[in-house]
Order: sequence, then C-alpha cells, then structure tokens
Amino acid sequence: MVVIGATSGAAEDFAAEMLAVGLFKGQAPEGLGDAAAEVVSSGDFTGKESETALLYGQEGLGAPRLLLVGLGKRERFDLERLRRVSATAAKRARALKLREAAFSLPVPPNAAVREAAQAAAEGASLGLYSFDQHKSGAEHHELQTFHLVSDEENLREVTDGAEVGQKAASGASLARDLANEPSNVATPEYLAQKAREIAERHGMEVTVFDRAGIEEEELTGLATVGRSAANEPRFIVLEHRKGGDAAPIVLVGKAVTFDSGGISIKPSAGMENMKFDMSGGAAVLGAMEAAGALDLALNVVALVPATENLPGGDAFKPGDVLTMHSGKTVEIVTTDAEGRLILADALSYARRYEPSAVVDCATLTGACHVALGDHASGLMGNDEDLVAEIQTAGEASGERAWPLPLFDEYTEQIRGDVADIKNSGGRYGGALTAGAFLKEFADYPWAHLDIAGTAYGKKGNAYTPKGATGAPARLLVEFLSGRTP
Ligand code: BES
Ligand code: MN
Ligand code: ZN
Repeated sequence: MVVIGATSGAAEDFAAEMLAVGLFKGQAPEGLGDAAAEVVSSGDFTGKESETALLYGQEGLGAPRLLLVGLGKRERFDLERLRRVSATAAKRARALKLREAAFSLPVPPNAAVREAAQAAAEGASLGLYSFDQHKSGAEHHELQTFHLVSDEENLREVTDGAEVGQKAASGASLARDLANEPSNVATPEYLAQKAREIAERHGMEVTVFDRAGIEEEELTGLATVGRSAANEPRFIVLEHRKGGDAAPIVLVGKAVTFDSGGISIKPSAGMENMKFDMSGGAAVLGAMEAAGALDLALNVVALVPATENLPGGDAFKPGDVLTMHSGKTVEIVTTDAEGRLILADALSYARRYEPSAVVDCATLTGACHVALGDHASGLMGNDEDLVAEIQTAGEASGERAWPLPLFDEYTEQIRGDVADIKNSGGRYGGALTAGAFLKEFADYPWAHLDIAGTAYGKKGNAYTPKGATGAPARLLVEFLSGRTP
C-alpha cells in the first residue's frame, strides 16, 4: 500500500518524480513555468474537475514532470472532490510507473488543513486500490510514496491528517478485499479468520461461534438460514477495549457470503452479485481494523453473523415459524428475506453489552437501492440524535446516508398471521418494513444502514473502481472518531 508523506515548503521546489498541482476553473497558474501558463491561456486546460495536463522540464521546478489537475469550480470544491482529484493524480503517477509523486495540497474553503490532508490521503490510497489477486500474470506497478506538500506552519496538521486518512483507507481497503472475494473464498470461516487476524494485529478479543455454538446460544435466525449450507455459519464477536468502563458501541454487519435466496430462489440473472451480500460484515471488520490502527479510546464490539443462504433438503421453507434469540416468533414468508433474520439475532445478542449505541449495516433490500440509487445508503433508527450523528458522519466521509421513516404503519405491515411478526411486508416500502422488522429487536439507541445500493457498483468513481466500495467502513470510522472522549 502506498505511503502518504507530509512535506513542508514550496511545492515548486520539491524534487519528486512528478509534482501535481490543482487549478480551479479559470485559474491562471503562478510560478509553474511558461508551458503551464500557456496550456491554460490557450484554453486547452480549463480546470474542470479531474481534467489533467502533463508537462515536462518546466524551468524553476524541482520535479521533472508537472501534472496540472482540474479542481472544478472554486466555490464547489469540497473534501469529496479533493478525494477524487487526489486519486486522479496518484493514479496518473502510477500509470507513468513512477515510484513517488508529490501533490500540492489544496484546502477546500471551510475545511481544516487536517481534514484536507485526510481526504487527500484517502483519495490517493483508495484510488490506487485494485483487486487482482485472482488474475494470473497481472503485472502491476505500485506507487510507493505520495507526498502531500504544504506550508511549514501546517506540517503538523498535514502529518496527522495524512496518517488518519491512510488508516481509514486501509480499513476501507480491507472491506473491499473481503467483499470482492468470491463466495468460494470468502466463506463464513474465512471472515472469522480475518477477524482473528485483526484481533491479533491490534490486541483485540475475538470469539467465534461455530454451528454448534450458534445453536447453543439460540441464535435461531442465523442457525436456520445457515442450516443447509455446507460451509458452516459463524457468529463473530470482535472486541476493541480501549475505553475503560464506558458503555460500548456495537457495530453489526450482515455477512451472507452468498445469497441465492434459498428455497425462494432468486432469478439467475445477476445472481453472481450476491457474493457481495456480506458487505455489511466486511465494512464492520474494515472499521474495526481502522479503529485498532487509530487506537481509538473507545469500547467497540463488532458482531458479524456470517452464513450462506442456499436451498437444500434441510433448508428452511416459506411458512416455517422461528423462535428468535429474543423470544419473538417469526413467520417466514420468503427465505430470501434472510438478512433481517440473522441481524435480529445479533441485535438481541447486543443487549448484553448495555451499549450506548448500536449501528447495523446490511445489503438488506433491493427496494432501498431503487429508492436512493447508488449514491446514498438508507438510514433508519429509533433515536433521532444517533440518526443525525450517522448522517453527519456519512457527509464527512463521502459515504452518504439519507434518513428514511419508520412509521408505526410499517410495523403493522409485518404483523404475523400465525406468529408475532413475518419476515416480509411485501413489495411496497420494502426498505422500511425491513427496518421496522429490525426495530423489533433493538431496545437501545439504534441506527440501521441499508447499503444495498452503495456497497458495490458497476461504475465506481475516481477513487473507487467497479466492485466493492468498502462503504460504509469510513462512515463508521468517522462516527467512532466523533465518539472519542
Ligand atoms: N441481499 C438481498 C438484498 C439485495 C438485493 C441486495 C439486491 C443487493 C441487491 C436480500 O437478502 C433480499 O433478498 N431482500 C429481498 C427482500 C424481499 C424478499 C422481502 C429483496 O430486496 O428483494
Ligand atoms: Mn435475500
Ligand atoms: Zn441477502
């Protein structure tokens, strides 16, 4: 992984293999040499976002290559655009097969230098992410160092911000790696092993329940969904204890390593994407990796119910009734609404921690993807302040989340015919009836992120290639950081 450096002094003097400098729309370059002045005055380079011009041998510059990068309109420049621009510069340096490059750090209006450095570090680091473990002979060049250059008086802030950004990005990259792995690699036990490695690296505690342990704990939802799978389910508990005797924050992540729908089988078109149905668990593990690296002074517990959802002779069936971990009974309308069953058990398991807050994230409903598209996770909960806090963390991290309602009528919609509740409320308001279902199991401040539309994509952006995005790992890190004393 690329190292993000912090350097002070005049960017023009810095002797890197390439210097990247951002220019706003219509901004004339200063002190960058004649060719830079000309490429702008000619109109060939306008400064629109992520437009680039590469110039060589500019007199008076320490670097042999100068990359002009468009920052877009000055008044629209923000941390999210900075992530993208920084990624564009870093990826260009890699394409040129350079070992190191420098970026003159632009600070958006209203942002602190430290936040800008964090965003630039995240953008560069995540922009360089690629998932090519399974490509034979994939020869790939790595950029080793990306220097953020700023004024002397900002060096401390840039250094700190770059370090935080790099750690947040490494958590998000881990989440991407886990989610991108196919289901024949990323089995429930594989995720458990990754949790053990995180625990080992950062001095956390880990407990993994196997099938027998899950049954013994009466995690019925998880045991039932995982019953017919040859790759056994796991219930992963990972604890970061750096907060003294403060009440812990619990993070819950859905990890269905492959969702075929079970007996209520899904159509085959696009089913390969259901390897991403463990993205919630991946993001939670990624956030824990970052929390450990940042050594956050908090108690954080991660709960990851992990299972496959497959049809089979022993599979659960529509019409079945389950007595959940909490004691509530659930009537199965469709075996494809499996995520809420395993999450419900994790949510009621979380009660024992007397948590100050619980946040779950899950690729829970296609309906949420339909509602918000690819650009925001659905956000629900039972506590206005917590929901607002999560929304703010989403905005700051660039992993946006948007509030959706949990009116009592949605709970009415899932009232059971033969049991307390049923696991589907039908087509309309699907994201909300799923949220209402989870709400039945949360009796503490709780927020729910439906990441069906945001966890992976076929398009990506400058700092996110197609495939897993890692979201909402960085949102969770931002939320946790905001909770440190
Ligand atoms: N994992 C899916 C949700 C999903 C669908 C995520 C598409 C990403 C893309 C979930 O388990 C599911 O199947 N949900 C059903 C619920 C319905 C049966 C009540 C859905 O959304 O159709
Ligand atoms: Mn499903
Ligand atoms: Zn699912």
